[in-house]
Amino acid sequence: MYPVWQMPVLGSALVVAFIASFHILPSHLATSAFWFNVSVEHKAYKENRPELIEFIKKYVLTILIFSFVFGSLSGVGIWYATTVANPRGISALIHTYVWGWATEWVFFVIEVVAIYSYYYTFGKVDNKTHLAIGLIYAISAWISMIIITGILAFMLTPGKWLKTGSFFDGFFNPTYIPQLFMRTGFMFTIAALYAIVVAGTLKNKDVRAFIVRKASLWGIAGTLIGSAFFVWYEKALPGAARDAAGMTSLIPTLLPHIVVGVLIVLLAWFAVTLAKPGWAKLLPGIAAIFLVLIAVFSAESMRERIRKPYVIDTYMYANQIIGNDLPARHVTSELPAIDAQGILHFSPFVPAALRDISDTTMLQAGQVIAQIECSACHTLQADGWLRPLPLMVKKAGVTTVDDAQALVGFLDSFPYMPPFAGTELEKKALAVYLVSLNK
Ligand code: HEC
Repeated sequence: MYPVWQMPVLGSALVVAFIASFHILPSHLATSAFWFNVSVEHKAYKENRPELIEFIKKYVLTILIFSFVFGSLSGVGIWYATTVANPRGISALIHTYVWGWATEWVFFVIEVVAIYSYYYTFGKVDNKTHLAIGLIYAISAWISMIIITGILAFMLTPGKWLKTGSFFDGFFNPTYIPQLFMRTGFMFTIAALYAIVVAGTLKNKDVRAFIVRKASLWGIAGTLIGSAFFVWYEKALPGAARDAAGMTSLIPTLLPHIVVGVLIVLLAWFAVTLAKPGWAKLLPGIAAIFLVLIAVFSAESMRERIRKPYVIDTYMYANQIIGNDLPARHVTSELPAIDAQGILHFSPFVPAALRDISDTTMLQAGQVIAQIECSACHTLQADGWLRPLPLMVKKAGVTTVDDAQALVGFLDSFPYMPPFAGTELEKKALAVYLVSLNK
């Protein structure tokens, strides 16, 4: 176990969620935009329309700045945030997929070299070579998506990995294919939205209309393909039934409607820009991109809900306690050991004075237990944004230590919460702390 990162107000999980949701835009733009770009460039050479190059140059500069500055910053941000929010989850990911990440990095380096070469060799190399550089970028960017998707989907649905612990069993998991093609579809939605914004700034009216129309068609196709695979992906999620059963709060119930609503608005926007390219102005274009951000955040929240109570499905709980055996990797469940020793002894980063609970340290020990076992999903402060524990205790209506202790005893009968792990005395300390929150 590691020290707990407590983020005031937001809670560590929301920090990860905000950075990761934002990162979807630049990363998916990076993987999609060059397919569009190369197709326009090809047309420019084939039909001898040099005026199209003006768009290509601007579009590549947008990708360079947005994807390679903000995308890289937020990408590194995800690593930092997830590493401190859930060190053991990331550790499991690295231990299984270190060569996967290494391979992905090779393709990422090819992308970086290719995009700079592409941008700085306009007019300096022959057309065929320039197109080839663009194509090298497009292909290597998609390959990096092929790799990352496998690793990310593994955490949600590890599939046969849970039995074999093998790289490829986890990689080609039950949600891999639908997720890969869902991302592939939607990445063209994102490429199209950016292309429309960039085209809106062009001086040549014919070029603007041509690009906006072409991007609208790509956007419609991408959105339809992405949506179809999104439905498949949802169906492939083993936790979907579990989630629906436990859904009571208003916001989680709204999330799927937000996603579907945004998809419909986007299709309508593409239909408008297809029919009336002149309407593709800067403001509505940027508003459409902003809508994608909202939909992404909603979809990610849905996925995170489904993932609960685990960070790696049925293997590691969100609070980083390993809840099941994985004989292939010589790992055993930590629950029996924690129940026997106590979480305050099991976890190394506990102040020595709190390890053995006495009447005077009961409340404080209870708080430390809540930090270790509950704060991955609940902020401890009442004004926190992430299911604040004081509100939850009020909702459950517990006012006595006995009631709170009973509730803690059957936490895992809620489909989205891990079981309490620790001794009876620790359970009591947590109960005392919980009751103190309901004042
Ligand atoms: C894996 C994430 C996760 C962890 C870890 C977790 N919870 Fe929860 N908890 C939830 C979710 C999700 C809800 C439902 C919130 C809602 O309905 O909006 C919830 C709800 C609750 C409720 C309200 C139950 C009700 O009546 O609806 C209580 C009380 C609670 N949690 C206590 C705890 C305590 C104490 C711990 C630590 C021992 C803990 N939780 C750990 C995810 C978690």
